[in-house]
Amino acid sequence: MQNTISGFSKLSKTKKIDWLLNTCFDNNDTAKKVVTQYWNSDEKLQKLHDEFIENTITNFYLPLGVAPNFLVNENLYTIPMAIEESSVVAAASKAAKFWFERGGFKAEVISTTKIGQVHFTFSGSKTDLQSYFKTIKPQLISDAYHITKNMNRRGGGILDIELRDKTEELDNYYQLHATFETLDAMGANFINSCLEQFAETFKAHAKTHKVTNVNIVMSILSNYVPQCLVRAEVRCKITDLKDKDIPDPITFAENFKQAVSIAEVEPHRAVTHNKGIMNGIDAVVLATGNDFRAVEAGVHAYAAKDGKYSSLTHCNIDNDIFCFWLEIPLAVGTVGGLTSLHPLVKFALQMLGNPSAKDLMKIVAVAGLAQNFAALKSLTTSGIQQGHMKMHLMNILNQFKANDEEKKALITYFKTNTVTHSAVVEAIEKLRS
Ligand code: HMG
Repeated sequence: MQNTISGFSKLSKTKKIDWLLNTCFDNNDTAKKVVTQYWNSDEKLQKLHDEFIENTITNFYLPLGVAPNFLVNENLYTIPMAIEESSVVAAASKAAKFWFERGGFKAEVISTTKIGQVHFTFSGSKTDLQSYFKTIKPQLISDAYHITKNMNRRGGGILDIELRDKTEELDNYYQLHATFETLDAMGANFINSCLEQFAETFKAHAKTHKVTNVNIVMSILSNYVPQCLVRAEVRCKITDLKDKDIPDPITFAENFKQAVSIAEVEPHRAVTHNKGIMNGIDAVVLATGNDFRAVEAGVHAYAAKDGKYSSLTHCNIDNDIFCFWLEIPLAVGTVGGLTSLHPLVKFALQMLGNPSAKDLMKIVAVAGLAQNFAALKSLTTSGIQQGHMKMHLMNILNQFKANDEEKKALITYFKTNTVTHSAVVEAIEKLRS
């Protein structure tokens, strides 16, 4: 059992590490080396990273890969992807190349409205509450002017505030349900500041309007943004689907559509299917300094919006045209947050031509669609393991500390042999004997 520590947050980074090594690692030198070897030699840069979060001891690396050849609405992109899983970047790149030769991806932003709520309880007359809300609504907006003035000037701001009666679901529960346009910002801080101001104004004037006992429970944005929607699509003639992996495009299109239909009706499959989509989405969201937890939560809620968890992508075959699309809610920003702080985020955004938030929504959605296309293409033809394990080979070789010569020999060997963990172990042993 460890002892608790008080005042840990106030210790210097060195003292925190000393405490940690002493408490959890018996002052082991290897543990100290692991922590310190990931420090950046540029002290200023290291300090920047230290200050992103609290109690930082070192950096946790994720590879940043790039997937070239993404044609989106006639613009060609190289997409940055930060992810630890092998075969995701290769799959995205392969899908990009496939669709580049077939007209590319089309993407459109359907809407950009974000949501925040002041949750409160009230046990008095509903009519008095409604009449108070009607009177106070203009002041809720005007009192928040000091927060909204810059956003208003750029064309965004508060779109509306509604009073929502939720007492059927929970005794005495009401909301101020507010909608916002936050333009190129993800908007979390802006929305939360507005909401806290609404709550203050709402509470402060309630009594003078006969509305007593308003109890503000909390004020917070919602990461469920079904009115901040983007759609990405690919389409081509079925016969044009033919390539080295697809000798029979008609059978392929039918099986592919069937695989999507299965994910639409079967939640167990839908979760894995959507996980594959999130491989692409999270990787771009992370690389561009956005909040992948917010995106994940919102996207999965959307997948369950009709009461049953379902596929985020859909497929249609009509008049010999194969059409495959994705529709997701996506609140991302290209200003604020880490976007101007993290040098690699700046680099990633620059790689994408410093997109607006709307353009980034399209790029992220396209990465998700591409990923799902690649996974389903493999699943319905060769199976997933062939390509995935081909990419995973390097991880297994590193696990067994293969040197460069051994790697070269084994990569050549596995060009014509199926990669499985045991086959690699056997091949290494054979080579070394
Ligand atoms: P392949 O046909 O063996 O690749 O595919 P290739 O060597 O013929 O190369 C074709 C292109 O693929 C390349 O073109 C690259 O674009 C890309 P080139 O650059 O040569 O002009 N590519 C690569 N890019 C970067 N590094 C590489 C690389 N290799 C190929 N080393 C591939 C191999 C893995 C791409 C293919 O089999 C594939 O797409 N598989 C799907 C893999 C996948 O979906 N992985 C995600 C992880 S699995 C998962 O978590 C999700 C899942 O459960 C979701 C679900 O169930 O729906 C599957």
